[in-house]
Amino acid sequence: MSPFQLTRTLAPDAAGADLRADVLHGLSRSPKTLPPKWFYDARGSELFEEITRLPEYYPTRAEREILIARAPEIAAATGARTLVELGSGSSEKTRFLIDALLPGLDGYVPVDVSESALTGAAESLLADRPELRVHALVADFTRGLALPGMPGPRLVAFLGGTIGNLLPAERRTFLRSVRAMLTPGDALLLGTDLVKDEETLVAAYDDAAGVTAAFNKNVLSVIDRELGADADPGDFDHVAVWDRDREWIEMRLRARHALTVKIPELDLVVPFAAGEEVRTEVSAKFRQAGVRDELAEAGLDLSRWWTDDEGRFALSLATAR
Ligand code: SAH
Ligand code: TRP
Repeated sequence: MSPFQLTRTLAPDAAGADLRADVLHGLSRSPKTLPPKWFYDARGSELFEEITRLPEYYPTRAEREILIARAPEIAAATGARTLVELGSGSSEKTRFLIDALLPGLDGYVPVDVSESALTGAAESLLADRPELRVHALVADFTRGLALPGMPGPRLVAFLGGTIGNLLPAERRTFLRSVRAMLTPGDALLLGTDLVKDEETLVAAYDDAAGVTAAFNKNVLSVIDRELGADADPGDFDHVAVWDRDREWIEMRLRARHALTVKIPELDLVVPFAAGEEVRTEVSAKFRQAGVRDELAEAGLDLSRWWTDDEGRFALSLATAR
């Protein structure tokens, strides 16, 4: 049997239809919004990998530190035979978990909207792990996933703090759908960035080299390419602000002057006033009590909580009730 299999659960044009619906909805309302999954075309996935190596972007290094320290405990506690990872990207940190689980692991199931990220990750994992089986799913993790024929115990990993990119109501729906992928005793491993001082947080989302700015603006290039729009990334500034009440970083694109964006495929002309902003993403930051409550509400009991030495980032292990 081939050690690599890839399944596309998105209909060939699902991405196109979803993109049109999201852009039409998001840019016709006030304030304007665009949902984050459209950052991650091949170029966006590359830019994100660059972000993970920036001096200001501490979450990846902090989470890697925890995974290296705790992978053996996670493997012992879960005994997982199937490891599913949502929003797996490059799977770069996941290798520590995979290596700890490998003796008993039947398969690794990375799930991502970015097919290029999935094939790249599988290639590098399989290069030095001939005994590993990878079944990649090109899928939208907000749509609920079925995992037929994947043996338990199952461990679902959701790393990188990506859960913070969902709004609170979306998180509730999402965590319930994760719970529905599991049977009692199965586990979720959840990475969450933690509330900390504003300066550290803003720098992580507005780096000196401008990589995050390029990543944020890439969503405009996606709209230009896919929908024939004429948005000029140079007409917008990248903005990252800390919302201290909601405890999230908000990423925005701000029009440098009054302009219009024409989107022929939607028959839409979108006017921007000078300084008008589009919200492109939130990145919520968490506290232990909040994580425990949100998990509990979805039928997941927090059993372990680990942070890096500096207490910047947390990994939670939760058990399906
Ligand atoms: N887990 C990796 C990557 C995090 S970046 C890490 O910790 O470094 C977020 C990843 O989620 C990207 O690879 C992106 O393509 C993917 N993603 C974003 N929204 C998604 C969605 N709705 N469904 C599936 N994958 C999604
Ligand atoms: N999940 C990542 C985070 O919230 C995604 C991310 C990092 C991101 N930097 C970004 C998304 C900049 C948009 C813009 O940390």
